[in-house]
Amino acid sequence: MPVITCIDDLKRIYERRVPRMFYDYAESGSWTEQTFRENTSDFDQIRLRQRVAVDMSGRSTKTQMIGEDVAMPVALAPVGLTGMQSADGEIKAARAAEKFGVPFTLSTMSICSIEDVAENTERPFWFQLYTMKDEDYVNRLIERARAAKCSALVITLDLQILGQRHKDLKNGLSAPPKLTPKTLANLATKWGWGLEMLGTKRRSFGNIVGHVKGITDPSSLMAWTGEQFDPTLDWGKIAKIKEKWGGKVILKGILDAEDAKMALKVGADAIVVSNHGGRQLDGAISSIRALPAILDAVGDQIEVHLDSGIRSGQDILKAVAMGAKGTFIGRAFVYGLGAMGERGVTTALEILHKEMDTSMALCGRRTIDELGRDVLLIPEGFEGRWQ
Ligand code: GLV
Repeated sequence: MPVITCIDDLKRIYERRVPRMFYDYAESGSWTEQTFRENTSDFDQIRLRQRVAVDMSGRSTKTQMIGEDVAMPVALAPVGLTGMQSADGEIKAARAAEKFGVPFTLSTMSICSIEDVAENTERPFWFQLYTMKDEDYVNRLIERARAAKCSALVITLDLQILGQRHKDLKNGLSAPPKLTPKTLANLATKWGWGLEMLGTKRRSFGNIVGHVKGITDPSSLMAWTGEQFDPTLDWGKIAKIKEKWGGKVILKGILDAEDAKMALKVGADAIVVSNHGGRQLDGAISSIRALPAILDAVGDQIEVHLDSGIRSGQDILKAVAMGAKGTFIGRAFVYGLGAMGERGVTTALEILHKEMDTSMALCGRRTIDELGRDVLLIPEGFEGRWQ
């Protein structure tokens, strides 16, 4: 077993173990992938301020996100098809998150259903909702999330239509994979993955199949997002969903201060500054670059979280020092899951925690409350003057 010291190590094992179409699904941005790339390269532009001779004993990364205690300011993001990265992947990831003490968010596009995850975990998880044309179905999803005791509804706002990821089209992405000669040739080299998949019944979209009528190809993400997602979603509808849910609501996919103000008006408990990991509007600004203006607009009135681009504990530190109350990781946990199942997700969380804790110490800070912009060295013009 190789020595694993960073998230990139997990990614290398993941790439070897998991069928190409699912690796490509996670590792893609839309069109030219400019936003996907800049989500990470913009984090690299920010530097940390080294401070010395500060008592660094008794450190803690503990804090709260939407009033829930978290071991560090990180939640597992909703990631579609997670149960194709590893058999029963959502259950494995949720278990690792609950043992570590961070929230897990189940995607509407998951393989394991809401009920599957609830039966196999003890702590409440968060449920991510996509709004569909079929209102009855959306209402039933909300009811199912309530029955499963989910403690927050994460409504994704930046995917009413699906951004084009070239590789998914070329690979014929589906769950379960369609057995074409090309797919079969690749699957033949993924024995460990395949054997585990044969051992589970959960191989298609658990929240959808058997629950939604009129989908021409339930195994195809592209087909059913095109057919089912609600292109008319607007702030009025979001307010209605919030009312129907009645619990905590996180609005995900905010990248503009004007939209952040709308989210505030609707009464959301938190927003996630996000461009969907660079998977939707290619050419959009990176999340970390968008964060300061959004914080200036609403940061004192609503909890602001961030996702897209986080691959290290230092990235988490940078986002939190800038003013985010929490972050979401997607690919960083998926690499661990694909590489080593539940243990891999735990390893990813441990790596991120260690990187964050050590960096905090070397910046002369002991707690999350002590983190502020003065920990960061942000290049002049980082936010840019975009007209
Ligand atoms: C779904 O959320 C996706 O980005 O594919």
